[in-house]
Amino acid sequence: MIENSLWHPVAQAHEVVDAPLGVQLLDQPLVLWRDPQGLVRVFVDRCPHRGARLSMGRVENGHLECPYHGWQFADSGQCVKVPALPSFTPPPSQCVKAFEAQEAYGLVWVRLATGEELSAAPALAALPAFEAEADAHLRKLNCGPYDVAASAPRIIENFLDMSHFGFVHEGWLGSRDATAIEAYAVETTATGVLATGCKAVQPQSNLHSTSAAEVEYTYEVTAPYAALLTKLPESGTTRAGWRESIALFICPVTPETSRVWFRLAVADFDSPDAQLQEFQHTIFCQDQPVLESQQPKCLPLDPRAEMHSAADRMSSAYRRYLRASGITFGVC
Ligand code: FES
Ligand SMILES: [Fe+2]
Repeated sequence: MIENSLWHPVAQAHEVVDAPLGVQLLDQPLVLWRDPQGLVRVFVDRCPHRGARLSMGRVENGHLECPYHGWQFADSGQCVKVPALPSFTPPPSQCVKAFEAQEAYGLVWVRLATGEELSAAPALAALPAFEAEADAHLRKLNCGPYDVAASAPRIIENFLDMSHFGFVHEGWLGSRDATAIEAYAVETTATGVLATGCKAVQPQSNLHSTSAAEVEYTYEVTAPYAALLTKLPESGTTRAGWRESIALFICPVTPETSRVWFRLAVADFDSPDAQLQEFQHTIFCQDQPVLESQQPKCLPLDPRAEMHSAADRMSSAYRRYLRASGITFGVC
């Protein structure tokens, strides 16, 4: 499955401490823990002895200890201790499956690739707006997680969609009096899809708006379950000269459920985190009920399965990209 070779966000980095944390990615229960060197380790969340959940255990002497009979696993997944047999040295075959993890954008990212899949695995998308050096002047913070009863592709498509603003976000990102979507350009990129010239009139486009603003955005799909919104510097919604961004990162938990984070790169250095998060929270809580109502929950990739208008050309391009990428999880 191609999804196994991609990096997916699974938790906020600060949540992963020296106590194990259970998460789920692509239907696979995983346990995350931090080794004594501070590195995040990821194993299948199932003890190979009698199937207990390792995330119910603890970290003991730098090893992950199963809650049932206390078998201990080193950072490689190798079993190093069987308490019932103190003088026994477990063979290499006595191990739990381990995966790769890395930290980026305030999150822990995991990929389930093993063996040959690893050579085909692409790197985690580099997002210049969020790199420490490239845009060090912008303030970055995360919002979430949100546990959503919708597939990851439905959530990405909602993020790329402007024609719902006047209805779902009436009085905030749009109004019923101005629902027309001007033509915008869509192109494919090396890693996804890019829409430019996306214009809207927004009554309350950010925390500090005091009047309606004409905004211009670019939307980019950077990976099958990741997207980026960039507000153009001349856009009425942001401080002159500042290029603010919002990234959407989704963990595909099951085909029909997802865990969602937003990462903001903003030029607002004064408002408390909670206030910036509250604005994003308000907007997403408007989206969530509609998203969860959509049927089917998985995103249909057959162009005939749902009806489209010319205003939907970004979402149509996203669907074509998913199909061309061989994505099967969260689509139908
Ligand atoms: S089930 Fe894990 S040690 Fe027995
Ligand atoms: Fe929305």
